[in-house]
Amino acid sequence: MTISHINIHHFRNIDYAELSLSPHFNFIVGNNGSGKTSLLEALYMLGHGRAFRHAQSNRIIQHEKPELVLFSQIRSVNQQTRTIGLSKSKTGDNRIKIDGDEGFRLTDLAKLLPMQLITPEGFELLTGGPKHRRAFIDWGCFHHYPEFITLWNSLRRLLKQRNSLLKQTTCYQQLLPWDRELVPIATKISAFRADYASHIFPEIVATCADFLPEYQLSCYFDRGWDEDTDYADQLIKQYDRDKFINYTQQGPHKADIKLRAYNIPVEDLLSRGQLKLLMCALRLSQGEYYAKQMGQSCIYLLDDFASELDQTKRDLLAKRLKLANSQVFITAINEEQISQLVDENDKIFNIKSGIID
Ligand SMILES: Nc1ncnc2c1ncn2[C@@H]1O[C@H](COP(=O)(O)OP(=O)(O)OP(=O)(O)O)[C@@H](O)[C@H]1O
Ligand SMILES: [Mg+2]
Repeated sequence: MTISHINIHHFRNIDYAELSLSPHFNFIVGNNGSGKTSLLEALYMLGHGRAFRHAQSNRIIQHEKPELVLFSQIRSVNQQTRTIGLSKSKTGDNRIKIDGDEGFRLTDLAKLLPMQLITPEGFELLTGGPKHRRAFIDWGCFHHYPEFITLWNSLRRLLKQRNSLLKQTTCYQQLLPWDRELVPIATKISAFRADYASHIFPEIVATCADFLPEYQLSCYFDRGWDEDTDYADQLIKQYDRDKFINYTQQGPHKADIKLRAYNIPVEDLLSRGQLKLLMCALRLSQGEYYAKQMGQSCIYLLDDFASELDQTKRDLLAKRLKLANSQVFITAINEEQISQLVDENDKIFNIKSGIID
């Protein structure tokens, strides 16, 4: 899918914009505070129903305006056109329309417009807590295994119930009815994650060999509890500790991906620029694997493309993105940063105080 047009009303400092987009590279160029990241957020919102910097709609809706509205046309690989309309009001009224019809959920948007976001804050994927790496692996599971999202929602519900039940139980037997439901779901979720990991890890290692040839990367999936123990046995084993803090301490909600080079965690070894490149390698591998499997590509959003990267690394990343043959949005503070990347099929948008031309 590619986004061919977008109309933006009252989104952060963008009062109104109507843009016709390239299916290849789109560059957004402007000074600090001009609205580059805001434009990327508007695009991101089409595929997620929310912006990536603040969860609260009120912060995203333009000051002193009651609501924001986004309208876009998207095009599939077979040139079929569809429309997405999205509005959010300060009173909490949220609407999603696909081809003019209402009643859609955020997961419908995510399926329609798969995106890979690369921002300067995206380091969190490597340096932040496990939830960022779980989100990475779950993005893949969501797109590649249709049952995953239902299982994931059930897991969240069951764990919440289990944790509140722990406050009342006096022995493990009282948890058994819940755990009988929880165990098969946890096991299936972990199997999907492990399967996805087995496909995506070789892709990440290969991309890393291209981006950071000085390191040999190793990736390991930690499912969130002991590898040799059934989850049913694990829950019995950990009951006393769980009861003590009223919280299920191990399980798929604790899964993680460990990334190492020279057997040292990457976050302790690599420089900031190298970490950024590795983060890009993960996102690109995921996007490319998606394209290979699904026959359609992801949209890439890259905020502040040049930050932390020297010219050679920028060229490397750009070359790989060009090869992916996907729609790409890149922000930069001046045209010099991108001049070598622009082809005849690409578009450059200049943005100044929220006004785009
Ligand atoms: N709800 C809002 N209403 C109006 N303006 C807003 C709102 N939220 C943020 N802004 C303003 O939007 C402007 C653009 O911010 P944005 O982060 O998009 O800039 P940028 O071009 O990405 O800058 P930088 O190069 O520093 O990253 C900021 O000056 C900010 O104060
Ligand atoms: Mg910005």
